[in-house]
Amino acid sequence: MRYPVWRPAVFACAASLPLYWLYLGWQFALGPDPGKVLVDNLGEGALVLLLLTLSMTPMQRLTGWGGWLAVRRQLGLWCFTYALLHLSGYLYFLLGGEFSRLGEELRERPYVLVGGLGFVGLTVLAMTSSRWSMRRLGKRWKKVHRLVYLIVILALLHMLWVVRADAARWFLYAGIAMALFFLRVPAVTKTLASVRSRKGRGE
Ligand code: HEM
Repeated sequence: MRYPVWRPAVFACAASLPLYWLYLGWQFALGPDPGKVLVDNLGEGALVLLLLTLSMTPMQRLTGWGGWLAVRRQLGLWCFTYALLHLSGYLYFLLGGEFSRLGEELRERPYVLVGGLGFVGLTVLAMTSSRWSMRRLGKRWKKVHRLVYLIVILALLHMLWVVRADAARWFLYAGIAMALFFLRVPAVTKTLASVRSRKGRGE
């Protein structure tokens, strides 16, 4: 097993947060609308995990340490789990389990549709994240997983629609996403690799 220390640490952090929020809700410590706070926290958590997943490859290129890539898949799967909990929380707390209202919701709140598209994309990535899928898809695997950029854009658009007036956090996440997109530009990737090899040679 490679880098075993990472896995339980990431697991413990990612699994304990939703449990902690659930506990706070149980203790009436999440304000007058705990369901909404829980849904918001899970949505924001999914976005943070998405950006963390996207930052693993540039970190590996910058430092040359393969450990970053070892947790990339784990973080991606946690992002999917948070998004699934976020969606479940929305259906249970905000929609009250009335699925017949979904059509009306999609008409009145288009951001729900945008979030839904992002979730479909995350589902595709989660379902094709195994080594078996990697082997089966071959070169197409990379192409499929480029979907992550579209998902980031959809998630940011979805969030902006919700937070609108209080957009400071949104600008922070959008700025991080832009920086991560920039680090994937081929010319920048090459520069990072040459900086690392020069450092490695002690120049
Ligand atoms: C079917 C899928 C989805 C549905 C139905 C959905 C629904 C919602 C709703 C109703 C809200 C606003 C809650 C409120 O404050 O009233 C929200 C907020 C949010 N969602 Fe989603 N969402 C979905 C997918 C996603 C995905 C895939 C992500 C990120 C990867 C995401 C990230 C967020 C964020 C960051 C917020 C704002 C949280 C805040 O105000 O701090 N959502 N979502």
